Amino acid sequence: MMMKIAPPLDLSVCIGKLELKNPVIAASGTFGYGQEFENFMDLSQLGAIIPKGISLKPMPGNPPPRIFETNGGILNSIGLQNPGFQAFAKEKLPYLKKIKTNLIINFFGNTQKEYVQLARRLDDLPGVSGLEMNISCPNVKQGGIIFGSDHRMTYRLVSEVRKSIQRPLIVKLSPNVTDISAIARSAEEGGADAVSLVNTFRAIAINIYSKKPELGNIFGGLSGPAIKPIALRMVWEVSQAVKIPVIGIGGIMKAEDAIEFILAGASAIQIGTANLINPRTGIEVIRGLKKYLIQNKMDRIKDLIGLFKI
Ligand SMILES: Cc1cc2nc3c(=O)[nH]c(=O)nc-3n(C[C@H](O)[C@H](O)[C@H](O)COP(=O)(O)O)c2cc1C
Repeated sequence: MMMKIAPPLDLSVCIGKLELKNPVIAASGTFGYGQEFENFMDLSQLGAIIPKGISLKPMPGNPPPRIFETNGGILNSIGLQNPGFQAFAKEKLPYLKKIKTNLIINFFGNTQKEYVQLARRLDDLPGVSGLEMNISCPNVKQGGIIFGSDHRMTYRLVSEVRKSIQRPLIVKLSPNVTDISAIARSAEEGGADAVSLVNTFRAIAINIYSKKPELGNIFGGLSGPAIKPIALRMVWEVSQAVKIPVIGIGGIMKAEDAIEFILAGASAIQIGTANLINPRTGIEVIRGLKKYLIQNKMDRIKDLIGLFKI
């Protein structure tokens, strides 16, 4: 009797010129600098790793408390705490660049000049596959949200950064806007190779006994399963508004969530808050994607992108 051999599953996806072995990416700010997760998995299995956002100079972040748990999510007001470019390049990069997967560097600035200056420096670092520009942090005064909520400023910033660097540029969008598709189109017109969405939703929590804010910074960003349906709607809308690849983010806890985002048009997905609950979420999502392909008699994840029927 002839044995039928199943064709190998192809989980690879393309984000512009960047090829990922699978669409599962660890989201910025929820995966440390990779090393913190090495005891939980073989890090090279992920499609890409995005470490905590980097600024030109070190940033101390916001006053505590900086995390507050809500129903189905968390509020965070870390405030983009990071060691700054120099310490990142010296202390964190040597480990990160040895991992056999794509390394995407998330970064932000206070002014357009600072964004461009930092992007150039990051572009020159060895072992970096691409840059993710954060124009969307909701819980610091600067940190990009000023750029990310105005489509003209988005266009100007993206075009300045694009012409200053060689590597693929992903622009990370804020959900705290009236029309996220308009911002995505401006990023595309400015030359972004892809957009990633969403960052967290601006939110607050009140302690009813002290009648004070639960977070030291008053405002925080909501993430986790509570935001998934809204993030999914935004990813679907943006996928129809732009031709460049879209990376879906927001409340992905398991493979089924990732599949929804891919069906809605995402070429890849990022896992954020789930890493803080189960550090192996990324690996489990990859396994679940394979299972789904087999169950649906498909062999390429690419064929699943945008199959949402209405
Ligand atoms: C504790 C924490 C820190 C974060 N830090 C960053 C950051 O430095 N840069 C960034 O672009 N996004 C940051 N984010 C946003 C996440 O990357 C992601 O966009 C968001 O949490 C939504 O995805 P999730 O629901 O899967 O967590 C952070 C999120 C959390 C919870």
